[in-house]
Amino acid sequence: KRLILVGPPGSGKGTQSPLIKDEYCLCHLATGDMLRAAVAAKTRLGVKAKEAMDKGELVSDDLVVGIIDDALKKPSCQKGFILDGFPRTVVQAEKLDEMLEKRGAKVDKVLNFAIDDAILEERITGRWIHPSSGRTYHTKFAPPKAPGIDDVTGEPLIQRKDDTPAVLKSRLESFHRQTEPVIDYYKKKGIVANLPAEKKPEEVTSVINKALS
Ligand code: AP5
Ligand code: ZN
Ligand code: ZN
Repeated sequence: KRLILVGPPGSGKGTQSPLIKDEYCLCHLATGDMLRAAVAAKTRLGVKAKEAMDKGELVSDDLVVGIIDDALKKPSCQKGFILDGFPRTVVQAEKLDEMLEKRGAKVDKVLNFAIDDAILEERITGRWIHPSSGRTYHTKFAPPKAPGIDDVTGEPLIQRKDDTPAVLKSRLESFHRQTEPVIDYYKKKGIVANLPAEKKPEEVTSVINKALS
């Protein structure tokens, strides 16, 4: 299957995608994770992306389309994929359709993480991440066994630089203005499944499994 996860910051995309990946054994591409890795490694791409990311604005379409175009060429991504955080503009959605058309493929399903903005600040400010695996915790909703330590590796957890109330505000603005039209783009194609993203993680997972079966 070829799946897209779309939703505002903190809606649970990164929490749910590894669960989907295990079940359907797909290639998992998260543009936010890929960009953060480029920023940390100070690559040319990372240097270009950093300023926009720190402000909670979107990185340029050309840059992220290039990343996805390269990644989709990998053998592991030929049978199916999960895109987390891409496309985020209608231009990106159109480019993705072009890329897939060339391969005789199309997007099968768009999982729309529908949630009220008011819930998201608590989700974002309590989030802790294990950078190398992408495992995500929350001080209140999904605490690690020891504070600040990854359950699996014992390595330290970090907080994201853009996970502040001020930057969240700008990320939400970008979402409503630039990314909500992407949901409409896919609604017209009849492939959107709405998820109750404010519910418990297990409940969201079960709605996803129903939508994909
Ligand atoms: P990105 O990394 O994609 O960030 P985002 O979209 O803002 O989404 P988040 O990762 O914050 O949220 P999430 O939905 O994954 O939440 P999570 O599951 O972790 O992008 C970052 C930046 O990169 C962008 O601002 C932009 O600059 C750039 N960028 C990326 N892609 C781009 C593109 N295509 N074009 C242009 N620029 C791009 O959950 C959050 C917290 O809540 C966690 O602590 C979790 O434990 C907890 N939680 C999750 N689910 C639940 C639940 N059901 N109940 C209670 N708590 C929960
Ligand atoms: Zn995420
Ligand atoms: Zn809106």
